[in-house]
Amino acid sequence: GVKIVTIGGGSSYTPELMEGFIKRYEELPIREIWLVDIDDGKEKLETVGKMAQRMWDASPYDVKVHLSMDRREALKDADFVTTQFRVGLLNARIKDERIPLSYGMAGQETNGAGGIFKAFRTIPVILSTVEDMKELCPNAWLINFTNPAGMVTDAIIRYGKWEKVLGLCNVPVGAMMAEPELIGKTLDELIYSFAGLNHFHWHRVKDLQGNDVTSEIIDKMYSNDSGIPANIHDIPFFIEQLKQMNMIPCGYHRYYYRSEEMLKHMLDEYNDPNVGTRAQQVKQTEAELFELYKNPDLDYKPEQLAQRGGAHYSDAACETIASIYANKNTHMVVSTKNNGAVPDLAPDDVVEVSAYIGAAGARSIAFGSLQSAERGWLQLMKNMELCVEEAAVTGDYGVALQAFTINPLISSGEKAKRILDELLIAHKNYLPQF
Ligand code: NAD
Ligand code: G6P
Ligand code: MN
Ligand code: MN
Repeated sequence: GVKIVTIGGGSSYTPELMEGFIKRYEELPIREIWLVDIDDGKEKLETVGKMAQRMWDASPYDVKVHLSMDRREALKDADFVTTQFRVGLLNARIKDERIPLSYGMAGQETNGAGGIFKAFRTIPVILSTVEDMKELCPNAWLINFTNPAGMVTDAIIRYGKWEKVLGLCNVPVGAMMAEPELIGKTLDELIYSFAGLNHFHWHRVKDLQGNDVTSEIIDKMYSNDSGIPANIHDIPFFIEQLKQMNMIPCGYHRYYYRSEEMLKHMLDEYNDPNVGTRAQQVKQTEAELFELYKNPDLDYKPEQLAQRGGAHYSDAACETIASIYANKNTHMVVSTKNNGAVPDLAPDDVVEVSAYIGAAGARSIAFGSLQSAERGWLQLMKNMELCVEEAAVTGDYGVALQAFTINPLISSGEKAKRILDELLIAHKNYLPQF
């Protein structure tokens, strides 16, 4: 039987994972699941852990869910380790959102200054987790879901020297779930190709005759639900731009292609005392979810989880694990080493790309060179990520400032430096490297 370990097990998303594993039990025979958390998340872990066990008890399968505050005890002989932790919890995210915005710049979980600081807090924790894995489960696969998932996955390979890792995101899943019906098709009648970076990828679509149907979807995206995650305000892209690129951007591209409008929306919502930042909204949803999880009669994933931006992430996580375990060679979109799939980036850069997932991990599918605008964006964003990772590992203030300077959502100058300094102080308990 398979041993799964989930770091950050107290997350309200854990029932997503359990549902995905229960659904796939026949191809992925799990023996035990270990949910790991820290003292700050103990209460959440206990509540959601009991709920997870009830979900298994209501299934035909005999699986034990272990709860542990001891990562090393849990990791021993793991086959798959999944990560869904949030260093500093949602209070840290509120600071990532509020502080940049107080200087008139975007405050977002994975983009701009907030995303950079989420990486600064997360990378030291993931690298120490990888060191434990080298000792305790050297053959395990690491399935990283912790954001910013692209940078975290890149740092695992580049600095942690751990190759058996795949990074995941639910955004491509959402697109593939919502778009086919816009053009009267089902997913198995279409061939999807994704390439770019996490929260910064584009995709193209062909039908089974090999005809490119991307522009048909682009036309329909305008008046319909295109699968954008619940957390992103839906400002449309400029149609002329989409037609020119003949690719569909991911939901997060709005922060770059429509920066002004997205910033205005953030200012309006965050400063409205009845709304607040996204993390403040999520806190509310989380409290409601944990109230439900406390109900000893609830033994299935509640509807309300769909209010979280990460809905359906189990489809990515559990399918990836099942595909590795059973060598299924399924098409999935993962953060993995480029290996030439996107020739505009270096072969050892982690990219988010369509790949076949099997026992040897991901074999990324060649996407080919991009046009000038996309190539420019991608090279800028990837090198911004590399500065962030370097600063996260070394604590070098200069390289952190370089990352801020080239990040398109942060203007350069005194204000940027003040945001950096303020965030360093606000998060100092989680930034041992600085
Ligand atoms: P959350 O705030 O509920 O945190 C999850 C758990 O992590 C908490 O119980 C917390 O106590 C625990 N934790 C914090 N530091 C830890 C540590 N050092 N070791 C072990 N556990 C620790 O978070 P959430 O809103 O459920 O999101 C979880 C993570 O998943 C976040 O990083 C989020 O960005 C990410 N996420 C990713 C995607 C994606 O598309 N890749 C989608 C949704 C969420
Ligand atoms: C999307 C992204 C995730 C992100 C989430 C935020 O699904 O893919 O990477 O963490 O939204 O959702 P939330 O409900 O926490 O705002
Ligand atoms: Mn994501
Ligand atoms: Mn900048």
